[in-house]
Amino acid sequence: MTVWNKGRLWAALLAVFCVVLMSGEVQARSQVAAKEGFLLAAFGTSVPEAKSSFQAVEKAFRGSFAKAPVAWTYTSQIIRKKLDKQGEHIPGIAEALRHLKKQGVRVVRVQPLHVMAGEEYTELERALLLEVKKHPGRFDAVYIGRPLLESREDAEIVAKAVLASCKEKRGEACALVLMGHGQEHGRAGLTFEGVRQVFTALDPLVFMATVEGQRGFEELLAELKARQVKKVLLRPLMVVAGDHARNDLGGSEDDSWASRLKAEGFEVDVNLEGLGLLPEVAKLYIEHASQSRDDLTREPKKK
Ligand code: CO
Repeated sequence: MTVWNKGRLWAALLAVFCVVLMSGEVQARSQVAAKEGFLLAAFGTSVPEAKSSFQAVEKAFRGSFAKAPVAWTYTSQIIRKKLDKQGEHIPGIAEALRHLKKQGVRVVRVQPLHVMAGEEYTELERALLLEVKKHPGRFDAVYIGRPLLESREDAEIVAKAVLASCKEKRGEACALVLMGHGQEHGRAGLTFEGVRQVFTALDPLVFMATVEGQRGFEELLAELKARQVKKVLLRPLMVVAGDHARNDLGGSEDDSWASRLKAEGFEVDVNLEGLGLLPEVAKLYIEHASQSRDDLTREPKKK
């Protein structure tokens, strides 16, 4: 073999090697993209009109991660059973994870659609952890994202978005009353108070209370009276405007917040929009999902 021939051979080999290397890289890259999947986890709702909020969040996730599978789970068995009877199947956690596995997902990013890390968030985390322990090695990682409102920055983003979205509907001298969910064990009680402070710093005519938590309707009423408010716009501080929003907040029954405030002489308007309909909220969920470092398959670092 001449020197010239040897040189050509080496060049050809090098070219083949480069092509193989590049295709390998392309393949590896698409595998990385394909093996990540999202699991949107909510308490759930059986109110068909409320689903638009969940759909808006899902659409935003699909838009941001075009190739990644996006699955759903509702943690409420009662709601899932009710929907099953109506012909709509929403999987539980175990089934949803199996489904993602079948789609070739190696890294799961669970994004809870809870507003704050209260009782339901904690239960979801525990259920996921048990599921992960049952199937060691099934996924490379199972990350859990933080809820919507965790930091002061989160609260500022959400507060600004909420205020902007109902500015027109409120008009002049109209207070905004937000109904949070709240919970008996009060794990998110202080978060609620912090969020309340962020809202009122931006707009002193915002009032917040919960349907099932520590700060209830009586406190809200006393505050509205003390501030001599005459007009209120009611709105849920929940990801969907489901049963609580449609019944406990804006319902026509005597015991809804709307009816009780009307009976007290307030001029009442209701805005039945779940937080999930705000693009800023969907964006925040996406950020929390992608930034999570809480991998439930890893033991905590030794310290
Ligand atoms: Co409830």
